[in-house]
Amino acid sequence: MADTRMNPEAPPTPEHAPVFRKDYEPPRFLIPEVELDFDLRAAKTRVKSALTVTRNGDHDEPLRLAGDELRPLSVKVDGEDARWTLDGDDLVIPIEGDRAIVETEVEIAPDANSQLMGLYASGGLLCTQCESEGFRRITFHPDRPDVLSRYKVTMHADKARYPVLLANGNEVETGDEDDGRHYAVWEDPFPKPSYLFALVAGDLKPNRDHFTTMSGRKVDLAIWVREKDLPRTAHAMKALKDSMKWDEEVYGREYDLDLFNIVAVDDFNFGAMENKGLNIFNSRYILADQETATDNDFDNIAGVVAHEYFHNWSGNRVTCRDWFQLSLKEGFTVFRDQCFSQDMGSESVKRIEDVRLLRAVQFPEDNGPLAHPVRPESYIEISNFYTATVYNKGAELIRMMRTILREEKFRAGSDLYFERHDGEAATCEDFVKAMEDASGTDLSQFRRWYEQAGTPIVKANLAQADGIATLKLSQSIPDTPGQSDKQPMAIPLKVALLSEQSGNRIGEERLVMLTEAEQTETFDGVDEPVLLSINRGFSAPVRLQTDREDRELQLLAASDDDPFARYEASQELMMRALTAAVGGDPLRTEAVVEAVRKTLENEALDPAFKAEAIVVPSESMIGEQLEEIDPDKVHEARIAMRKSIADAMPELFTDLLDLEASGDDLSPDAKGRRKLRNVALAMTATHDPKTGAAKAKSHYDKADNMTDRVAALGVLSHLDAPEREAAFDHFYDRYRNDTLVLDKWFSLQAMSQREGALEAVEALSCHPDFNLKNPNRLRALMLGFASNQFVFHHASGRGYKLLADMIIAADKLNPQVAARMVPPLGRWRRFEPKRRELMKGALERIAAADGLSKDVFEQVSKSLG
Ligand code: PHE
Ligand code: ZN
Repeated sequence: MADTRMNPEAPPTPEHAPVFRKDYEPPRFLIPEVELDFDLRAAKTRVKSALTVTRNGDHDEPLRLAGDELRPLSVKVDGEDARWTLDGDDLVIPIEGDRAIVETEVEIAPDANSQLMGLYASGGLLCTQCESEGFRRITFHPDRPDVLSRYKVTMHADKARYPVLLANGNEVETGDEDDGRHYAVWEDPFPKPSYLFALVAGDLKPNRDHFTTMSGRKVDLAIWVREKDLPRTAHAMKALKDSMKWDEEVYGREYDLDLFNIVAVDDFNFGAMENKGLNIFNSRYILADQETATDNDFDNIAGVVAHEYFHNWSGNRVTCRDWFQLSLKEGFTVFRDQCFSQDMGSESVKRIEDVRLLRAVQFPEDNGPLAHPVRPESYIEISNFYTATVYNKGAELIRMMRTILREEKFRAGSDLYFERHDGEAATCEDFVKAMEDASGTDLSQFRRWYEQAGTPIVKANLAQADGIATLKLSQSIPDTPGQSDKQPMAIPLKVALLSEQSGNRIGEERLVMLTEAEQTETFDGVDEPVLLSINRGFSAPVRLQTDREDRELQLLAASDDDPFARYEASQELMMRALTAAVGGDPLRTEAVVEAVRKTLENEALDPAFKAEAIVVPSESMIGEQLEEIDPDKVHEARIAMRKSIADAMPELFTDLLDLEASGDDLSPDAKGRRKLRNVALAMTATHDPKTGAAKAKSHYDKADNMTDRVAALGVLSHLDAPEREAAFDHFYDRYRNDTLVLDKWFSLQAMSQREGALEAVEALSCHPDFNLKNPNRLRALMLGFASNQFVFHHASGRGYKLLADMIIAADKLNPQVAARMVPPLGRWRRFEPKRRELMKGALERIAAADGLSKDVFEQVSKSLG
């Protein structure tokens, strides 16, 4: 096994040198068939592989197969022992002629696999995770997405411990063997890249159902979990069936196998994985019932189930040529799951949530040392590129294309894309080309969205004279690492004018394509004072700067007919006052308070929208707007604004506490009422912490669902009141054996802003239930904490120290998960000088740690660079 670790001081070794997109070359060998035989045991699993290899093109190079921590026990070519060598991790085998059967045998140790990549053990199960480069931890193989093969997989295992044996495709044979063992053979008729390979062995029980496709085929569906978890699988099953139907109706895409399996596992690096016919999920995105899951959890589950299902076409039938094209499948699939959720629930509220996520995670990424294009040019470790830029900004790119092409032509483009590339490994360019060809629209300039990193800044000013309104637009794209002097982008802006007097829209909404650095757009016949409503529906992922006055924003917040623009106006009103206050101005609250009151009193608005629109932007969102962040000042300004809102209308908030929503009602309407009620609870506690604590405690005690319990705990978490401890202790006692619920207990405390919160987090990092090996638990505590700007950025630097210690410790077990904790420290340049130094020092300490993985090395060195 080659040493994949390195000293960051040393120059990059060949293994840690970056890979470049421009260096892509087609594979030297293709592998039409793969046969695998697993002798599964937790401590030692024997893997035999037989690859049918064919020379691709005219060359005489040897066959090169990737491995990771593997040593061959035997290598045969066409049945004869072969002369092989190891070059680093690669197995190199000379091949005569153009076709051969290459057999290898290796031994791996699932029990000892703490990286959770390859074959690993989780809660008594054996399961695999192969994306991106995990297959090479199971057997020698090219392990690149443009090598597609048909797989036949045989599994042997102890029948009592592992009664269920699953792999991709269809089960073709099963039987018993000696010593209490049994076997199963699975065949997947669809050629697939190795990253979509999966197997599972364990004591699982199915929730079975079926779906009849549009052409009348019956598909058997099963969600496999531990027996005790079966009652918590109903929501995921419903989401699966809804997704299958939606993809037929909206994209004309039908499922292609007779079987679709989902397995839930407790230890998982990401959310879930779209392995062909055998999706493997982090159990937090499958298991839910009213007792243990919040409305948010329910929504996330439906979204992730849909996402993985949609990958069957956007990802599996058409896959990626290389990992630089990751957004081809992820951007498109996120867009598809977002639209699915919009169609299943409230369209505008889902859009608001998605934009909030984009701004909270992707904008900072685009504005920091880890900024990269949606289609990156290079990487050291591809696992570091499963980012909000590739996923969420990537989804915005697809959404913009739909906006530019309009729905019908977008669908025609999607049809053409699937038709052209079915069964192939494609590129982002192939997708854009299909859109272009099907619609006749020139997307040359639009392609810059894939190339140029950084969030464009758009300035918009409206002037009026002689019946003509003139909209002046300009754009600029900030420099990002390795990129400066950027070209103007093609930015689709939905624009409308509203009567200042009536608030009604004047004329139709217009789609303005901003393609120049500066551009002017005129509107005729505008005889009255008007308001500018722009970037409606968040039609482009840009930072918008307008010279609209507070008064105008207030009017827009009260009457814009585009729900997103209306939400945006009220948020911008708050943000302006907050950033001004952080800069030393007195806090202007009048317009904000009036806007909030108007929103709450408006009977035409639904509760979920109200809840979104009146929530004061988070501290990190405020920080994002500042040149230099002082977390204490941000905290103070935000508290003051919340207090002025809460104090201005206490009765309004008290009344909202009576909103009714039964815990078993999961309709968008009931969820909205719970959301607004819980916002009101928080405002009540802001107004009067003492009675607030009592109300939150009784809200907790009375709750018949997890949404309300978590909301009440959230309110209590910030209060210095006996009720806080009582409720948290009660929650712990009640749910201590329920891993997913206990994660909430950790993250709620990690997000507390009370005095002593930092000490509490430090103590939790030593709590017996804290477990560095379980990614969910680690994230619950540490990512919750790192998002808690006021506490994490404590002036002492103790927050940074804790995170750095945790990254160093986690890296020894699971580099992927450790690397994901680096970005909060990577924002160091944005903070005031004292914190800046402390954060930088923490990064330097990580950089100097012994045996750093290349995952953490890449994130830390780029953050310091
Ligand atoms: N491809 C998965 C998804 O987004 C994400 C994933 C990547 C999961 C890598 C595990 C490992 O659907
Ligand atoms: Zn995905």
